[in-house]
Amino acid sequence: MRVLFVEDHPEATHHIKKALTGFVPWEFDFAVTSQQAMALMANHTYAVMVTSVRDSVDLIRRVRDFHPNVARILRSAEDEDEARLRALFVSHQVVEADIELGKLVGVIAQAADLELMIHDEGLRKLVGRVEHLPSQPKVYARLVQMLKRSDANFRAVGQVVQNDVAIATEIIRVANTPFFSRGRAVTNVIDAVGRLGTRTVRDLVLAHEVFSAVATGPNQAIVEKIHRHSVDVAVAARSLVSRPRDRDDAFLAGLLHDVGRLVVVSQLPAASPVVDSDGDLELEQSVIGVTHAELGAYLVGLWGLPYSVLWAAASHHEEEVVGEGALDVAAAVYVAEQVLSEQEEMAVPGFAMWRQTAHEALGMGSAS
Ligand SMILES: [Fe+2]
Ligand SMILES: [Fe+2]
Repeated sequence: MRVLFVEDHPEATHHIKKALTGFVPWEFDFAVTSQQAMALMANHTYAVMVTSVRDSVDLIRRVRDFHPNVARILRSAEDEDEARLRALFVSHQVVEADIELGKLVGVIAQAADLELMIHDEGLRKLVGRVEHLPSQPKVYARLVQMLKRSDANFRAVGQVVQNDVAIATEIIRVANTPFFSRGRAVTNVIDAVGRLGTRTVRDLVLAHEVFSAVATGPNQAIVEKIHRHSVDVAVAARSLVSRPRDRDDAFLAGLLHDVGRLVVVSQLPAASPVVDSDGDLELEQSVIGVTHAELGAYLVGLWGLPYSVLWAAASHHEEEVVGEGALDVAAAVYVAEQVLSEQEEMAVPGFAMWRQTAHEALGMGSAS
């Protein structure tokens, strides 16, 4: 594979070259400016781009538009860059500017694997039609527009969502989980939006519209079951994730982690029973040819959602995502899934405490 580094510090370039030459089985090129990077990309096929130049955010946006198969990694010391990327809704990864090179190699390898997986031709053919899913999420589109304006507030958002009874009911239900309610019951939708925050409401609406688009006829019961499970995983993952700034992504990742099961239910109804239980990936692989985790990651990638959400969808049945100590978005979703599916205890330190946290967030009573 071929990796492009876009780097304007000669010292850093030298350092990366020296550290990687002979140690990784990749070819790599260096560009000094984003113009040079785009010119190189026109002539070579890269699996991954790592950028740290001043206009990286714009470069990442252009790469998404013109070379969507290139995994994009931003090396940045600025929180502001990350915030701008999030606003763009670009699937990406951000690492610290001074990340250890050994770690960076791991991040690059993982990004390349995932990119390969979600751009696999067979997978694309199989789910060709899911690009139309959700069919016109109307309320979501209105909210996205509304939240772009600086004067957007929770009252205005509440007024939009209260017109849809099913969505309003769902928002009130989630606002009354102990994690959000903190012991005070919420009974109207405007207060519920105030409690949850506008981004969480927007994400709940997205999930609601995706799920209800496929909850028809014989699908209804299983789709509702998956929807309920997904909201529970979202609340639990949000309570579990270690860094407060990851909470919104953990919530969205929980909401969408099983969206691959929906694809199977709606596009391959004969295979529905295979995804009725959540997580028999070997069976899914043999019957469908792909797993719901791969399908979900593919779809989340198509929608251009944050990289951490995509990675969580891809890896939410892989115990390896739980490292030592802190829980990132994928690890939080994995643990939430384990707690809620009441799998046997995970043999990792901290599991009992995590289970307690998740149970408390959902109001499931004592965890013992
Ligand atoms: Fe799940
Ligand atoms: Fe799952």
